[in-house]
Amino acid sequence: MFAERRQRFLDAIGPGVAVFPAAPVVIRNNDVEHEYRQDSDMQYLSGFEEPESVLVLSNRHPKHRSVLFVRPRDPDREVWDGPRAGVDGAVRDFGVDAAFPIAELDQRLPEYLEDVPRLHYRLMEDAAFDAHVFGAIQRIRGRKRSPARPPSEIVDPTVVLHEMRLHKSADELRIMRRAIEVSRDAHLAAMRVALPGAYEYEVEAEILRVFRAGGSERPAYGSIVGSGPNATVLHYRKNDRRLADGDLLLIDAGCELEFYASDITRTFPVNGRFSDPQKALYEVVLESQLEAIAMTRPGVTLDAIHERVVRVITAGLLRLGLLEGDIEEAIRTEAYKPYYMHRTSHWLGMDVHDVGSYFAGAKPRPLEADVVLTIEPGIYISPSASVDAKWRGIGIRIEDDVRVTTDGAEVMSHDVPKTVADVEAALKNR
Ligand code: GLY
Ligand code: MN
Ligand code: MN
Repeated sequence: MFAERRQRFLDAIGPGVAVFPAAPVVIRNNDVEHEYRQDSDMQYLSGFEEPESVLVLSNRHPKHRSVLFVRPRDPDREVWDGPRAGVDGAVRDFGVDAAFPIAELDQRLPEYLEDVPRLHYRLMEDAAFDAHVFGAIQRIRGRKRSPARPPSEIVDPTVVLHEMRLHKSADELRIMRRAIEVSRDAHLAAMRVALPGAYEYEVEAEILRVFRAGGSERPAYGSIVGSGPNATVLHYRKNDRRLADGDLLLIDAGCELEFYASDITRTFPVNGRFSDPQKALYEVVLESQLEAIAMTRPGVTLDAIHERVVRVITAGLLRLGLLEGDIEEAIRTEAYKPYYMHRTSHWLGMDVHDVGSYFAGAKPRPLEADVVLTIEPGIYISPSASVDAKWRGIGIRIEDDVRVTTDGAEVMSHDVPKTVADVEAALKNR
């Protein structure tokens, strides 16, 4: 899978060389590091999960199409940090043509850049690593008595690579389905424990338990477990409030599995039954989401999907008396924005907000088969909004993971309860 991707990437870039560094290790505090996660581009092309590594791809070098620079084996260090692939393991297990110790990068990189017209390297992503690349160019320039020339162009490899990542292969979709299944189980488990009196963090802990028990390495993003008014905070993270009878609970949580993200949101009443105002708003969000899914197919744009959601939500807010006046005017003046302030969709893949351009030239790009996106409308009424008290502090989002098929859409997260009846049924007999 990784070798095939490397080949496809090299075929697409034409004569040149590409350099992809691993994600840097980041200190959390003092001598404690943040949990390490490989850079998604590096992972996509190599499957090599270790830090302090670099992948070089070339279709100009006489012998090496792919090279890994890695940490060498080191019995003393491995006692502390666990086994490393090392130079031999990199070649044996990761299918590259050659591997070298990372300490030899500066000395060896010029060999791969000499007389190559184009270097594919993403500048400014990792400024510390930029210095190694510039240093290699400087070294070649400095060899005045050698005819070798450094690359005359540096181009961004992600223009090609992120197009590849946007379109999901059958293997990638298989992994994403498994990630979504684990997240589904976590949402179902959360519904079981989210009773009045429980704390948001207890619900979060249950979600994380199911993620790990399902084989997920980590959440794909910080889990949002927002009850009552906390559901109106879009990036709520504290997760420390006690659930009260009468609250809605908004859970936005998705696991990462084998480096692929899932991203699911459900909102439900902790006492098992929606109140009338909660239900009225929920039905508006649900209608907008179902309409958005129904129109998702190749050729449609995310802007068009968002516009449909805005129209359904605005109509609902007018119907319920949260907005007044003419619908066209309300849409034109963005009167809905205090209650629906985010976009409807993003790409989903190795990154939760996945890579891939949202434009074709200057225009919104039409959807194509086998891209995966979220559809996640919501309504959020601030506790301090100047509206009838019955609406205040209600926050609702419904988010599914959707694959574009050749003639429509597949809701990959379809079996997490979503209609009022299904949600209430799932909350019975807890
Ligand atoms: N959980 C991040 C998002 O929904 O975009
Ligand atoms: Mn989400
Ligand atoms: Mn999302």
